[in-house]
Formats: sequence, C-alpha cells, structure tokens
Amino acid sequence: MPELKNDLFLRACLRQDVERTPVWMMRQAGRYLPEYRATRQRAGGFLNLCKTPELACEVSIQPVELVGVDATIMFSDILVVPEAMGMELTFDTGEGPKFPQPIRTRADVERLPVPDPEDGLGYVMAAIRLIRKELAGRVPLIGFTGSPWTLATYMIEGGGSKNYSKIKAMAFNEPETLHLLLHKLADAVAAYLNAQIANGVQAVQIFDTWGGILTTRDYREFSLQYMQRIVEQLTREHDGRRVPVILYTKGGMGWLEEIAATGCDVVGLDWTIDMDVARRRIGDKVALQGNMDPTMLYANPDRIRAEVKDILARFGHGNGHVFNLGHGITPDVPVEHAKAFIQSVKEESVAYHS
Ligand code: CP3
Repeated sequence: MPELKNDLFLRACLRQDVERTPVWMMRQAGRYLPEYRATRQRAGGFLNLCKTPELACEVSIQPVELVGVDATIMFSDILVVPEAMGMELTFDTGEGPKFPQPIRTRADVERLPVPDPEDGLGYVMAAIRLIRKELAGRVPLIGFTGSPWTLATYMIEGGGSKNYSKIKAMAFNEPETLHLLLHKLADAVAAYLNAQIANGVQAVQIFDTWGGILTTRDYREFSLQYMQRIVEQLTREHDGRRVPVILYTKGGMGWLEEIAATGCDVVGLDWTIDMDVARRRIGDKVALQGNMDPTMLYANPDRIRAEVKDILARFGHGNGHVFNLGHGITPDVPVEHAKAFIQSVKEESVAYHS
C-alpha cells in the first residue's frame, strides 16, 4: 500500500498534532453532486450502485476530487446489513428505504441469521479494496455501519417512521424480543466492521441516527449498551496503525460523557451543542467530530465562513477536532457552498495549530 499523503483526519481522531483541522461531510457522496446522480443513473438505481464495486468506488472518490475533503467514506448504506440477513429491501425514488416484510414477532427475530460479512456483504469488501487502490494514499478511507438500535428501527417499522410506534411498543411490552434482535445485530455489525477493517478501511463510524428518540434510561438499555458491545469487539489496530472508532448519536448531546466512556476514540456531535461546551465536557477524553448545522450550507459562502470561524474559535487552540457537519449534507445544497465550507475550514483552522 502507498504511504498516506494526507493523514490529518487519522491524526486528529487520535488527538495528535496537525497543521490544520481536517474536514469531511457526512453523506458527502450523494445527490448534491451532479456527478453522483450521473453514476447512479448508469448503475440503474441506488442499490445497484451499492452493489457494483467499480461504481461505488467512483462515487466514494468524487467528493475528494470535486470538493477537496480530507477523508473518503465508502459508498454504501447502513441497511445493507439487514438485507444480508435475508430481509427484502427496496429504495424506490422519492420514497426512501422500505422493508416490505418487517420484523414483528419473536419468531421473526429467531429466524434471522447473523451474516458472514465476507460472503453476504462481499461486494462491500470488494468496493473497499478498490477504493483503497484508486485513492492511492490521497486521504484515509472511513468504513461505517448503523447502530443496532437504528438498524432495528428500520427493520421493525418497515421504513422511516414518524413516531416509532412499533419499535417502542416492542421495547415496552416485549423487551426480551428486542434485546434478542439487538444482540444479533451487535454481533453482525461487529463482524462486519472487523471485515471492513481487514479489507482496508482506516477508521470506522457507527451511525446512531435514531438514538435520540429514547429516554436517557432507554438509550442506555437499547442503544448505548450495544454500541459499547461492538466497540469492545473491534480490531483497534491494523497495518501498524490504530483504527479510530467514531460514535455518532443524533440527538444524544445530553449523553456525551457516557458515549465518551464506551472506549471510542471520537464522539460525533450534532449541531445542537456549542463546540466549547462539548470540548469542556469530554474533550480531554476523546476527539470531537462536527458540528456545523447542515442547513447552514443554504447560506451564502460569506455566512458559511463566519460560521466555520465561530466553531473553530469555540473549539479553540489544540488538537482533537475533526470538522464535519452535525448531520448529513442535504441533496439540494449548491456544490459551490459545499466547496466554500471545505475551503473555509482549511484556511481558517491554520491559526489554531501553531
Ligand atoms: O457519503 C456517505 O456518507 C456514504 C454513504 C451513506 C449513505 N447512507 C448513502 C445513501 C451513508 C454513510 C449512509 C448512512 C445512512 N443510511 C444512515 C445513517 C446516517 C444518517 O444520515 O443519519 C441512514 C439512517 C440511512 C438509511 C437511508 N438510506 C435513508 C433514510 C435513505 C433515504 C434518504 C433520502 O434522503 O432519500 C437512504 C438512501 C441513501 N443512502 C442515499 C444515499 C446517497 C440517497 C439514495 C439515492 O441516491 O437516491
């Protein structure tokens, strides 16, 4: 493997010295890029794109070449794991993900196999190897998964949901059934992430997009506990380098101390907390990733730059900050604004690292 030319992201994750703050965007390989839309068209749909390593590789690298991010996230989706466990998954345009036969009973959960990632998810592994080759050391490659809780919400609700009535009813009426599912998912996801690491991802992020809909007690019981179980099972070093683990719970800013105590290296922040407060609370234990409001990308480039400066000033001098949005970039953001965001971080952050 060629030497990493830009390892700012990996160093920042480990709170090591950097010349400037690295930056990438959640959902950076996506619909705001016309080039992404063209490749998806060629693939004949979103799932085909995920399952065709050459095309998944192409869209993974687009944001490096087109907007100048400091890390690549492999192109895939969190829902390929339940699909590999035998659940039919559809992504009809404009509708979002759907599982037409959702999990409803204990028997449904018992029937679910824990997939062998090298087998059922072999196309992800092939994409990872290809991306590493094509990146040729330009920037590090991030792998990812959904948290067990977040995957379970889609598997039980059958798709996106307004008030999570079905999974909440299961959590309250039949907690053992839900725990059985979460256990299976935690083991499936840990094996999946370890396979990603073995195939070449250099950091991993767990997306707990729906952890924030839980009470504090239920968050510990149904989400955090299982993310902790995953962190404990992960390969933490590969090819002589530490593989940083990032935990991101949207809506979880009340629980930062507990998230930081799982043994992860980086805590992902949503946009609802001020960076100075987050650093004071957990910045001596983990690195922080975030946290510009993603809708700030609708503002003009001067306003975006002012926001970047404010977040950098709140973090202040020193190491342990990976700049990102507080959630994914939205499809209707002008590409010029995304570029202005990345450029502003690169220019304005130098002053904080002398
Ligand atoms: O660039 C990247 O971040 C890598 C790729 C990535 C995708 N999904 C591609 C995608 C990642 C990391 C995800 C994670 C994901 N998927 C999450 C967790 C992160 C988050 O945003 O909270 C969740 C909850 C999902 C499930 C999912 N996949 C939903 C709800 C949707 C529909 C969203 C929408 O805006 O329509 C998807 C589809 C999806 N995943 C798209 C992309 C680029 C859009 C599909 C398309 O091209 O039509």
